[in-house]
Amino acid sequence: MSADPYDDRGNKDRSITNPHGIGTLRAAPGTGHGMETARAFLIGDSMTGGYGKGPDILHDCTVAVDKGEIAVIVGPNGAGKSTAMKAVFGMLDVRQGSVRLDGEDITGLTPQDRVVKGMGFVPQTNNIFTSMTVEENLEMGAFIRTDDFSDTMTQVYDLFPILKEKRAQAAGELSGGQRQQVAVGRALMTRPKVLMLDEPTAGVSPIVMDELFDRIIEVARTGIPILMVEQNARQALEIADKGYVLVQGSNAYSGTGKDLLADPDVRKSFLGG
Ligand SMILES: Nc1ncnc2c1ncn2[C@@H]1O[C@H](COP(=O)(O)OP(=O)(O)OP(=O)(O)O)[C@@H](O)[C@H]1O
Ligand SMILES: [Mg+2]
Repeated sequence: MSADPYDDRGNKDRSITNPHGIGTLRAAPGTGHGMETARAFLIGDSMTGGYGKGPDILHDCTVAVDKGEIAVIVGPNGAGKSTAMKAVFGMLDVRQGSVRLDGEDITGLTPQDRVVKGMGFVPQTNNIFTSMTVEENLEMGAFIRTDDFSDTMTQVYDLFPILKEKRAQAAGELSGGQRQQVAVGRALMTRPKVLMLDEPTAGVSPIVMDELFDRIIEVARTGIPILMVEQNARQALEIADKGYVLVQGSNAYSGTGKDLLADPDVRKSFLGG
């Protein structure tokens, strides 16, 4: 076994990676958007905006994920990672720039309409209904569906067996890692075309984090591209096809997960050396 416990992690399944890579997207700060991402399946392109009438939090910020990929957003606390996710999901006024899904400009759509279009979003906080049972949470997740969603629920229970065991229990009684599984499961109930996760491993132990990452890779393997924010930067970049380092609402670095892990500046400033 190697000294680095994450050495043999990573997304090695060719079916969910792009064997050709995306090239080195690293660019000068503020120009994190390379040509390569312009036609990505989901892209928040050159987004500038803030909350309500407040100041801009995002400055020309670009994040994107393509089919078959896991894209990861990392950066210090307060960098605007959650804000970027909310902007892509339509919870924020994008004053400049655009959001496109599968080539369609969806900048003007409400979050609910984006869900109908195929976006699944798990926010960083308040991502489950704690007083409802696990199963009720999953049912709530299927709110836009008018068809029979029992197959999807079976798939979610296959992916997260503990949820099946605890399906009649109030979600608020679950552990942190189990709650995150409820949140991801709930988002999967709409059968999204793309999944956005804001810190899915927040507050869980390293072992649970590893398990959650494995489940996330499994979801990606089913063909759902994943755009996620992670505070466990090193581990997340290990499984990332594409990574973004955000600093003060701007793209500081972007590239393949591998490139970012190897970049001396990124290592020194964001990965603890
Ligand atoms: N609802 C809000 N209204 C006004 N300002 C907000 C709101 N949410 C966040 N902000 C501000 O936006 C900036 C970026 O916050 P954001 O939550 O996007 O950072 P983050 O990178 O996700 O941080 P963390 O790693 O702590 O989750 C911060 O200065 C924060 O104070
Ligand atoms: Mg955040």
